[in-house]
Amino acid sequence: MLDNSRLRIAMQKSGRLSDESKKLLAQCGIKINLQEQRLIAFAENMPIDILRVRDDDIPGLVIDGVVDLGIVGENVLEEEVLDRQAEGFNPQYKTLRRMDFGGCRLSIAAPRDFDYTGPECLKDLRIATTYPHLLRRYLSQYNVAFKTCLLNGSVEVAPRAGLADVICDLVSSGATLEANGLKEIEVIYRSKACLIQRQAEMSADKQALIDKLMTRIQGVIQARE
Ligand code: PRP
Ligand code: ZN
Ligand code: MG
Repeated sequence: MLDNSRLRIAMQKSGRLSDESKKLLAQCGIKINLQEQRLIAFAENMPIDILRVRDDDIPGLVIDGVVDLGIVGENVLEEEVLDRQAEGFNPQYKTLRRMDFGGCRLSIAAPRDFDYTGPECLKDLRIATTYPHLLRRYLSQYNVAFKTCLLNGSVEVAPRAGLADVICDLVSSGATLEANGLKEIEVIYRSKACLIQRQAEMSADKQALIDKLMTRIQGVIQARE
């Protein structure tokens, strides 16, 4: 049975946001013992459960009201929202705050010898990406039609593997592009981690706990500015 009295927070299990997310919750005074293989961790000193899942699943869990809060990249969140809207739904959630970590950009990158002069160069090319909606929204501003190659990982190998002409993927340090002989040609979205809450009203106890956490998060982030 689900224990709905406890606040559920979803965070990335492993990846770019997981260490910072873990650190933030710890700095807010939540005592959790995150065992590597565990999907769920219970706070010892507060009625909070931490769910550790794939980042891509977090927006849906919050929008569907399965968890109360989620820490997720804006890029992943926005893509999920656009995806649901494309299916005719009207996804709802509340953004509580933008975090000071998880900065990255979603960029189009091409093989180093690609002669790039502007978005129109991409017309009718095949673009490998995990973010087809963000990509389409961006290129439609230039009336550039393109073909997609949907990949959830290893996007950066697509051009070399002959799967696509160029890619659209997240860039943080740029090391992945560099290692794969690619160059960044267009930044289409700048992202950070953010904290979101499900839309439906919470019980008074849960809302009070969220308010307390928000005050602490505010303090933690301000202290490191
Ligand atoms: C992103 C992206 C690249 C890498 C780029 O993956 O897909 O693989 O980060 O970072 P760099 O510019 O510092 O080399 P992410 O960590 O978000 O994991 P995921 O794609 O598996 O969610
Ligand atoms: Zn991911
Ligand atoms: Mg990746």
